[in-house]
Amino acid sequence: MDRALHRTFADPDPETLAPLFASIPGGVQEARVAIAAAYDTTAHTLAFALWELAGHPELNTARATESMVQETMRLYPAGWIGSRVAVTDTEFDGRKIPAGRMVLYSPYLTHRNPQLWDDPLTFRPDRFTGRLPAWGYLPFAAGERTCLGAALATLMLRTVISAFAGAGLQRISTAVRPRGIITLTPDGPIVLRRTTTATSTSTSTMTGTATYTAPAHVPHRPGAPMVASQPLWG
Ligand code: HEM
Repeated sequence: MDRALHRTFADPDPETLAPLFASIPGGVQEARVAIAAAYDTTAHTLAFALWELAGHPELNTARATESMVQETMRLYPAGWIGSRVAVTDTEFDGRKIPAGRMVLYSPYLTHRNPQLWDDPLTFRPDRFTGRLPAWGYLPFAAGERTCLGAALATLMLRTVISAFAGAGLQRISTAVRPRGIITLTPDGPIVLRRTTTATSTSTSTMTGTATYTAPAHVPHRPGAPMVASQPLWG
């Protein structure tokens, strides 16, 4: 990828962001991170979602799409581990954390913690009709460094998954497990068969408006791009 980016930035297309990346020191590295942050996360989440859809035919309706996406990001949070730096001396679970110390947090472990979630290893989108555990659902992290692409990612995932409503997906791969690399990744290819040619009744389009709303317990900056507006399907 480095070679491809170097080539692209050597003669950047002015209609794209390439000139911007090309003009900053470490632009190739910045572009790599941006690609991993935006594309890998969304693509891997979509792969896990379709895998679960194939395993739960009863969820294969446009109506279930929203909770499907939420539950997929609970069980398979692409941003499975992150870091923060303590700004003040603090204490957690009896351990002192001095200011300046890096602290790791893991949405993956949090989302699978039985003290926070009933039957956490089971894929059960209906759990999202109830109250969420405080600070227990962090697929896009939280606070000042919340994912900037949360609304776009949610829109893309709902749009694609709702397009598979009624598709009768079947699993061909035998088992798929998550692997924590930079983003959470399926440990092998996910092979599915589509058994019907039914087309979705969804009215979602890529020009729709993202409807990701951060859970109430997750504060984010006023004006951050996470607003509920119009539903994605009619
Ligand atoms: C399902 C898809 C996605 C997931 C699960 C996801 C998850 C995350 C998480 C957990 C973080 C915080 C990392 C941390 O600081 O600890 C993050 C940051 C970020 N994400 Fe996403 N992301 C997704 C899609 C996207 C997309 C589509 C874009 C861009 C179009 C994007 C752009 C960013 C950026 C720029 C940051 C850094 C924000 C900052 O540090 O201020 N993400 N993402």
